[in-house]
Amino acid sequence: MSSSPLPVLIFILAFLSSCFSGDASSKCENFPKFKSCKELRSPGAVFAYNYQNNTNTTQLEILFGAPLRPPHTSGWIAWGVNPGKRPEMIGTQAIVGIINERGSPTSNTFDITKETRLGCLLLPTKNLSGLQVLNASVAYDGKERLYTISATLVLENSVYNISRLNHVWQVGYAVENGSPRNHPTTLRNIDSTETVDLTTNEVRGSKNYRSYLRSVHGVLNIVGWGTFLPIGVIAARYLRVYPIKWEGWWAYIHMGCQTIGYLTGTTGWVIGLWLGHVSKYHTFYTHRTFAIFIFAFTTLQMLAFRLRPKPTDDYRKYWNMYHHLLGYALLVVICLNIFKGISILQGGEGWRWSYIAILAFLGAITLFFEAYTWFKFMGCSKNCAGRRQNQVPPSPAQGKPAAEEKE
Ligand code: HEM
Ligand code: HEM
Ligand SMILES: *[C@@H]1O[C@H](CO)[C@@H](O)[C@H](O)[C@H]1NC(C)=O
Ligand SMILES: *[C@@H]1O[C@H](CO)[C@@H](O)[C@H](O)[C@H]1NC(C)=O
Ligand SMILES: *[C@@H]1O[C@H](CO)[C@@H](O)[C@H](O)[C@H]1NC(C)=O
Ligand SMILES: *[C@@H]1O[C@H](CO)[C@@H](O)[C@H](O)[C@H]1NC(C)=O
Ligand SMILES: *[C@@H]1O[C@H](CO)[C@@H](O)[C@H](O)[C@H]1NC(C)=O
Repeated sequence: MSSSPLPVLIFILAFLSSCFSGDASSKCENFPKFKSCKELRSPGAVFAYNYQNNTNTTQLEILFGAPLRPPHTSGWIAWGVNPGKRPEMIGTQAIVGIINERGSPTSNTFDITKETRLGCLLLPTKNLSGLQVLNASVAYDGKERLYTISATLVLENSVYNISRLNHVWQVGYAVENGSPRNHPTTLRNIDSTETVDLTTNEVRGSKNYRSYLRSVHGVLNIVGWGTFLPIGVIAARYLRVYPIKWEGWWAYIHMGCQTIGYLTGTTGWVIGLWLGHVSKYHTFYTHRTFAIFIFAFTTLQMLAFRLRPKPTDDYRKYWNMYHHLLGYALLVVICLNIFKGISILQGGEGWRWSYIAILAFLGAITLFFEAYTWFKFMGCSKNCAGRRQNQVPPSPAQGKPAAEEKE
């Protein structure tokens, strides 16, 4: 990360902080009845609770609130605890609030099993493992536009450890016969679990770390693949012969940018692989396939350092064509994959606009050089017809000028 360009990084981080720091405690102010309250990772969701420790049980009074994503006006919200080792859907003992278009919302308790995940219809049950649910109710908080579930749980201390409680929440939009049906499986929906220490109101484990690493992943990829590589290409295209002949230097800039970009991007890529590995139940196939393509072929491009034919070789011309075409194709795939990554995040408007700003910046530089090239070319064709014979400027329509003859 030390190689990252400071201005760009600061620029991106400024955007990030603006999109990750919401109004943190404001939703909680609406539930003064609860001693502990926090916003959950899912946008707009809150969790508030009071607990009381008895000899063999813990009495836990909870409130879970979440909005329905517009334009939906019906669906379900769910919150539950999982007595298993991990905070996950299967095994969760859930309270589900069913929200109808008309009529008041209703609530029920469910035991969520493997079969649920495979699509079997859930049936309500009062026989939950290790807990009892009392006074469950669902309501609509018009001011905050939240649907809320409130209930009192009696947890058996032998089954649930309140300093390591797995809790799980979800919002879905399909309902059948008063039971919840499958929910979306975007990042937001599979991220909705954590292990919390109710005594300190702190999250345990690697979940926070993961969302931090996601930001690092995004920044490194945008800076590495999305900024340095294109700058390197611009240097190779415009500083080599036309419009500016920066003998020697263009190659240093080109190789320097490509090396920094490649190393930064690869670090981001490795973090991506790790993130993909950790969220075992979910793979973002398009993003992953593009990512592997990008890594494989930028590696091939980097091999140009060693495996380039000599300028005198017959097939150097074809090698150049291949190197340039692959280079441009990579830029396109990188651009697509960055937007793909941002769309996986959902609601990453800050990310989207910072990348668009970078693209606009790179586009402006390219446009400038392109215009400058034409300007010089036109000027030259009038004034110095003699010189034109040795130095034919590249036609922009031909793509990149035939390359590195001189080094
Ligand atoms: C009603 C029928 C339901 C179906 C068919 C269903 C289906 C699924 C599927 C297929 C996944 C895996 C997504 C993926 O990794 O690609 C999943 C994940 C998840 N579901 Fe459900 N689900 C249902 C109900 C619920 C309920 C009621 C809750 C909340 C209590 C819930 C919470 C979760 C959570 C937190 C995840 C992500 C973590 C994990 O995979 O364990 N689901 N669900
Ligand atoms: C060209 C640049 C990029 C490459 C090569 C790349 C690579 C990867 C890879 C290999 C994965 C693992 C996929 C899986 O196994 O499911 C991944 C996941 C992911 N990437 Fe990217 N990525 C890039 C850009 C971005 C950007 C710009 C963002 C967002 C700002 C982003 C956000 C994500 C997210 C949210 C995940 C899922 C993480 C998780 O499962 O917890 N990526 N990326
Ligand atoms: C709850 O109370 C029991 C017995 O009073 C005690 O053994 C246990 O450590 C307590 N747990 C917490 C988290 O305070
Ligand atoms: C707690 O559990 C123990 C044994 O499991 C039992 O002997 C005791 O009566 C229980 N205490 C209460 C208050 O239920
Ligand atoms: C509750 O579930 C357990 C196992 O999950 C089962 O052994 C028990 O018979 C059930 N009790 C009732 C009343 O259905
Ligand atoms: C449940 O509600 C009833 C009446 O609304 C109340 O008397 C009772 O104390 C409540 N139980 C709990 C555990 O909050
Ligand atoms: C509950 O979890 C905490 C933290 O992991 C641990 O220190 C404590 O011994 C556990 N308590 C019980 C009763 O298992």
